[in-house]
Amino acid sequence: MMEAAGVPTPERRRAMPASSRAPKTPADPLRSAVAGIRGEVRFNASLRDLTSFRIGGPADVLVVPQDLDDLCRLSKQAKAAKLPLFVLGGTNVLIRDGGIRGIVVSLSKFKTMTDEPGSVVYAAAGVTMPVLLQHAIGRSLAGLEWAAGIPGTVGGCLVMNAGTRLGEMKDAVQAVRLVRTSGVVQDLDASSIRFSYRKAHLPRGIVAGVWMRLTPGKKEHIQAVVKDYLRYRKDTQPLTLANAGCAFKNPRPDTAGRVIEAAGLKGYRIGDAQVSEKHANFIVNRGNARSTDVIRLIQHIRRRVRISTGLKLGLELKIVGER
Ligand code: EPU
Repeated sequence: MMEAAGVPTPERRRAMPASSRAPKTPADPLRSAVAGIRGEVRFNASLRDLTSFRIGGPADVLVVPQDLDDLCRLSKQAKAAKLPLFVLGGTNVLIRDGGIRGIVVSLSKFKTMTDEPGSVVYAAAGVTMPVLLQHAIGRSLAGLEWAAGIPGTVGGCLVMNAGTRLGEMKDAVQAVRLVRTSGVVQDLDASSIRFSYRKAHLPRGIVAGVWMRLTPGKKEHIQAVVKDYLRYRKDTQPLTLANAGCAFKNPRPDTAGRVIEAAGLKGYRIGDAQVSEKHANFIVNRGNARSTDVIRLIQHIRRRVRISTGLKLGLELKIVGER
């Protein structure tokens, strides 16, 4: 192979005086992990507007892979560079103000939806639940009504086994397409995946798509259930303010919303982070909340609920990044 003029080969580097060698910056592994990616690669990329909370610092690098091949390449190269990948769905996450070191992946180009025999729909990980639900309604397929109003992506909802009182993701999952950290694509049957409350226990890798087994139904009936459910959410949840969905898991058989309200915390505010006045398990961003405001508010809620009820609230919201 020809050597490019002026590019120091390892041999030339060793022969150079130390002072003229290019400094070995921490960005080197980052650059080798993203080499040859055909999708978008943005260094020092703001993540705030990719989250429903509108909070958080930048990523060292944000990658939006073009397609499955691109994602496989990225996984393999990131593994070789010993860098973890963080997949950002964006709706149930709080990114700290210091941002995320390393590589953040957005699957916003993964939008394929295909109908398969037996009322099965394949949805790529970046399809949002409202889009998948509309697709299902258009084909008179029932089984996703529980997800009406959930803004998250299919991949995000799978990973956290998203759910409501009407149902949860695992009820309809037939199989999952995973890109393993080695860069190999693996299709897993749902029977080999253990689902628990708000968690799918998956091998290491990135969910690239999900096959959902739905049930033929009556379009008008499905639409009516969805409409009722959307109205319920609109009446009970702060949908017009920036938020990240429910902050805490429900301490079954009770609910986080009820115990937080009972602790007198509805409307309680730290900086621009506030316990919603409409639904106490939502923290809303009243404008320019910082991650530290939200985290202090979370700590305050937990402390007050523990004192008043003895319950330890578990976080549903995922907190990531650097202080
Ligand atoms: N409640 C209160 N005060 C409040 C909020 C709720 O007393 O401020 C009471 C309600 O009156 C009701 C009970 O708590 O008796 C349950 O409330 P809700 O029907 O709103 O359901 P949830 O358990 O609080 C769950 C999901 C939501 C989903 C709703 C609607 C969890 C943690 N949350 O909330 O999902 O939208 O059901 O189906 O499972 C999310 O996962 O991000 C999320 C918002």
